[in-house]
Parts: sequence; C-alpha cells; structure tokens
Amino acid sequence: MRIAFLGDVVGRAGREAVVRHLPGLRRRLGLEFVVVNAENAAGGFGITEATASELYEAGADCLTLGNHSWDQREALTYIEREPRLIRSLNYPRLANAPGRGAGLYETAAGQRVLVVSLLGQRGMEPILDDPFSAVDRELEACPLGQACDAVVVDMHADVTSEKMSMGHFCDGRASLVVGTHTHVPTADAQVLPGGTAYQTDAGACADYDSVIGNDKDEPLRRYTTRIPSARFKPAEGEATLCGVFVETDPRTGLARRIEPIRLGGRLIQHVPQVEPALAKA
Ligand SMILES: [Fe+2]
Ligand SMILES: [Fe+2]
Repeated sequence: MRIAFLGDVVGRAGREAVVRHLPGLRRRLGLEFVVVNAENAAGGFGITEATASELYEAGADCLTLGNHSWDQREALTYIEREPRLIRSLNYPRLANAPGRGAGLYETAAGQRVLVVSLLGQRGMEPILDDPFSAVDRELEACPLGQACDAVVVDMHADVTSEKMSMGHFCDGRASLVVGTHTHVPTADAQVLPGGTAYQTDAGACADYDSVIGNDKDEPLRRYTTRIPSARFKPAEGEATLCGVFVETDPRTGLARRIEPIRLGGRLIQHVPQVEPALAKA
C-alpha cells in the first residue's frame, strides 16, 4: 500500500502548494491514502472548515492537528462533524476535548488505515498527558496486520529525542511514525529494525524564504531587538510541499520503503521514483 504524509501546511502558500501538487503526486506515486498535518492551514494558526475543504478536495484523506488545533474557534465545533479531522489523542480526560484523537479510515480499495495524532510533552504548550501510554492503548486496540492494514502516527513535538523515542516505541506496530511541528524536514528517513518507517520531522508545506514558514521580518526583529512589534504572519512566496512517501507490505502492514517528498518552491527537490505499474494512470 502506498501512503503519503505531508507536514504542517502553513497559510495560503502552503495550501496552494497542496492544491497544485497533490493531485499529480497521487497519480504519479499511485497513492492510496494521504494524511496532511493542517494545524497551521488557516493564516498560520489553526484550521477552518473552508481551509480544510481545500485540502480534502486536493486529495487529503485525513487531516491531523497539533498545538494550534483550537486557534480558530470554529474548529471546536467543526471537528465534531468532520470525522476526517483529528486532534491530539492525549488530552487529559477532564479536558473533554471535542473530536477524536485517532481515526480508522477505509481506502477506495477497502484497506483500513488507522491514523493517530499525538502531542509531545517536552517544550510544548499545552502540556497534555503522556503520549506513549496514549498511543500504546490505540495500538493494542487496533493491531497492525489484524484489525487494520496500515497505521500512521503523527508525533507533533518539539524535541528530537522525544520523537525518536516514539518511533522506537511504535516500531513493529505502526507503518509510519513521523514528526511534525518543527517545520523543517530532517534527513533521517529510515525503516526501523522492526519495520516501522520513520522520519523525525516531515517538514512544512511552506515558503522556505521565511522563519519556519513565517514572514522573516518579525522573527528577525524579535531576535535582534527583543521587542515584538507585529504579529507573525505566513510568508507568501511559493511553498515547497514537504513530507514522506511510504510503501507497505500488504501482508504485514509494515514498511518496505520510506522516501522524503520535497516538491516546488526553494528546497532541493526530491520525488520518489515508483515502478510505472504501481502508479495509477
Ligand atoms: Fe506547525
Ligand atoms: Fe505545532
């Protein structure tokens, strides 16, 4: 099974990159399921129904969120009626968070894909419950290769060691564990020893003539003068679509292959080559 995961879509530039490139990528790579982190899709902060719809129409099957989930108030109610949108799983029980933190989806060919969204604890605001215990429960309840054909875990976190630890914790039980939130693609794509594809950060779908997707003037001003003088706003140049491509073994659901995707914009380009027989016409 062929899956793509795209990192944080930042603002209009990020959405335009998804709209421009994802339909072609779906055909070219023969993608059967696409997960997109959309926590920054609406003006850099959160998600709205209108921005989510653009991403679904472009070919996203499931959208994940992160620490910016509720920046747009409408997300609190929208998520209740949109099963393809998931927030972090590990909210404390008493938070009574709306929506769900995991979803089981079916592809056009009938394969079942479990998607889990986690928020790391180190250096993050808000600090949620332990993501390791939370994902463990989901993976036990829906074993890969038995109750589902693929498992995708989005580990939205700031600290590299926490993300890597999550990769190893899920190794052999997930098809893919991929990090989001830091908005820069890391060069460590690999299939872990137990068969889980892993990359510490997927990177952002954003304009990279920026500071992590934001117009660079205000971050530079704050770093040099220490005085905030404007709000952060997304950079508006052409974005690079960033993420990973994963091919799984249909028998086990484990990964055979992972490769980065970087398409459009300023970053060095990389699009996986797939056998023409695999790609759909
Ligand atoms: Fe983000
Ligand atoms: Fe984030």
